[in-house]
Amino acid sequence: MGNGAIAVYGATGYTGTLVAHELRRRGLDAILAGRDAGKLARLSDRLGGALPTRAVELDDRDGLRHLFGDCSVVIDCAGPFVRYGEPIVRAAVETGTHYVDTTGEQPYIQFLHERFEDAARAAEVAVVPAMGFDYVPGDLIAHLAAQGVEPLGDLVIAYATQGVQPTRGTTRTAIGQARDGGEVYEDGAWRRAPLRTPRARFPFPPPVGPQPVMRYPSGEVAMVPRHVRTRRLTTLMTVETFVGSAAAAPLVPLLVPAFTLALRTPLHGLVQAAVDRMPEGPPEQQRRAARFTIVAVAHGEDGRVRRGVVRGEDVYGLTAVTAVEGAARMQAGGYDRAGVLSAASAYDPVSFLDALAPAGVTYAVDPL
Ligand SMILES: NC(=O)c1ccc[n+]([C@@H]2O[C@H](COP(=O)([O-])OP(=O)(O)OC[C@H]3O[C@@H](n4cnc5c(N)ncnc54)[C@H](OP(=O)(O)O)[C@@H]3O)[C@@H](O)[C@H]2O)c1
Repeated sequence: MGNGAIAVYGATGYTGTLVAHELRRRGLDAILAGRDAGKLARLSDRLGGALPTRAVELDDRDGLRHLFGDCSVVIDCAGPFVRYGEPIVRAAVETGTHYVDTTGEQPYIQFLHERFEDAARAAEVAVVPAMGFDYVPGDLIAHLAAQGVEPLGDLVIAYATQGVQPTRGTTRTAIGQARDGGEVYEDGAWRRAPLRTPRARFPFPPPVGPQPVMRYPSGEVAMVPRHVRTRRLTTLMTVETFVGSAAAAPLVPLLVPAFTLALRTPLHGLVQAAVDRMPEGPPEQQRRAARFTIVAVAHGEDGRVRRGVVRGEDVYGLTAVTAVEGAARMQAGGYDRAGVLSAASAYDPVSFLDALAPAGVTYAVDPL
């Protein structure tokens, strides 16, 4: 399976284009794929014509199988994944092609585990969703923080971001997620997330400091309990990350349930129409200015506590770096993991985080 090209499906989108540039920058053998031949040709021209293109519609099962038959890995960037993901992952598994994607959607990650775990193992294929900013650094730092302290009573993962401007595709996807409501992990099991949004503060290390946070059902909920033994997983984000302003903190417990319920009414159509009028994504300078801090605190059942912190910048640029790094490791040959995995179980967590240093990622874990 190794050595075939890396196909990027959805190469013409905001994220797919960043992935295409990263594949080109690294000089990897790659194919630009998607549904629109004209857009793909223009993208290939912008990249100097070095990467071939293949236009295949999502409902063309034979066309997708034919495309992936020549490849070792596919990077899927065509979201929302709950809507568009399944044909790509099915064709990948059927052709023995490793699969990574840029989803941030918790229900899609759960769906892949439920629907494709057995088939991926039988085909000796690794299916690795969420290989972007959501949720590679969080998944890896949670794994490292828990090492030596398991079994855990609780594992807390908290996100603080500054200056992140979501793309149109991310906003469209996030609205679908808010409508779904998602799951939490408590008492060793997945449960529907409650509508209420409790207020809390979380002590981020300097320079971020203590911040108002809200619970949200992140993708790590679907991923981390599969490689860390914990009774509970608590996932938090700062109010500033959610609404773009810390000043809105007091309103969040009221606004979030109201917004979630409203999205289950015809208002949903109006919101979608507004999203369609958004610009595709932030311009490069603004994109690069975004910053993040992710903290994982592992509370051992025996009372020991261990903390990991990961910091970085440019979350969309990083998404391209992480997805391509994951695909390159699979393409290189000698890769032998199979099943539906997350970054921490698909790769060595330390060497993967170390590989992100040139992209501005730093991390530290408390000594044992
Ligand atoms: N986890 C993370 O950190 C992270 C980071 C970045 C993005 N994402 C996720 O990645 C996804 C893409 O985001 P984006 O900002 O790149 O969105 P985007 O710019 O809207 O791109 C969407 C891509 O999907 C393709 N597509 C849409 N409908 C399709 C269909 N019916 N058949 C085939 N292809 C179709 C589009 O093709 P056309 O160009 O032909 O329309 C385009 O290539 C979103 O779900 C977003 O949430 C996650």
